[in-house]
Amino acid sequence: MEYYIVCYEEIDSTNLEAKRLSSEGAKEGLVVLSKKQTAGRGRRGRTWESPAGENLYFSILLKPSIRTEQASMLTIIMAYSVARVLMEERLPVQIKWPNDLVLSKKKVCGILTEMYMDGCQIEDIVVGVGININTTCFPEELRDKATSIYLETGKCMRQEELLQKVLAEFQVQYEMFLQTGDLSLVKDFYNQMLVNRNQEVMILEPNSEYEGIALGINDVGELLVEKSDGKIEKVFSGEVSVRGLYRYV
Ligand code: BTN
Repeated sequence: MEYYIVCYEEIDSTNLEAKRLSSEGAKEGLVVLSKKQTAGRGRRGRTWESPAGENLYFSILLKPSIRTEQASMLTIIMAYSVARVLMEERLPVQIKWPNDLVLSKKKVCGILTEMYMDGCQIEDIVVGVGININTTCFPEELRDKATSIYLETGKCMRQEELLQKVLAEFQVQYEMFLQTGDLSLVKDFYNQMLVNRNQEVMILEPNSEYEGIALGINDVGELLVEKSDGKIEKVFSGEVSVRGLYRYV
């Protein structure tokens, strides 16, 4: 995959723009980057605060020949790639399954993967990434859950440099994923970085909720959770949310 980057001063959502450009003929490897988003989208219908100039908002257009049930693994591949880059920058980053990166148990990066079908075949997958780099002040309701690299380290990172590193790492991990078709090569390292590994978590599914101990992911990216009766549930990402018993992590 070769990248080609399209930059905007302002766009509604880089994920939406990647899909629009795909409809106009854009190929795999398109990267849509914007300084600001006016309608940044988060998982589960949430919005993603996207003020100008402080952070990184980008989306990659992919057209892999994979089955639909493999698509959510790309979110994990991206989370893993960003985590590796932040670790190389000596940041004590951890992963909150499936796709949040956390520093000091607060979210510093979110990933939204959207899949578009043409009949039974995948037409496009858009992987969107938001990294809080230099935000100094979050809205009241996010303050106990969100943070930025600057707030945690006092270091101002350059957006372009971080983008280049993440794109390079994702390229390597994506190619390996296409060869294996699963997460076998990243699973152990991913699990080492899992913020609530071996801790009690609350699983919130659309129609049920339960508690258990998070054990780690398996080769297809499901979170294994041991319930109090010893039964191990496989949690598939979809609409699920995982929380600490009393707070975000
Ligand atoms: C989440 O954690 O809820 C996912 C957040 C994903 C945000 C990024 S910012 C770039 C891309 N464009 C969007 O509209 N969303 C993603």
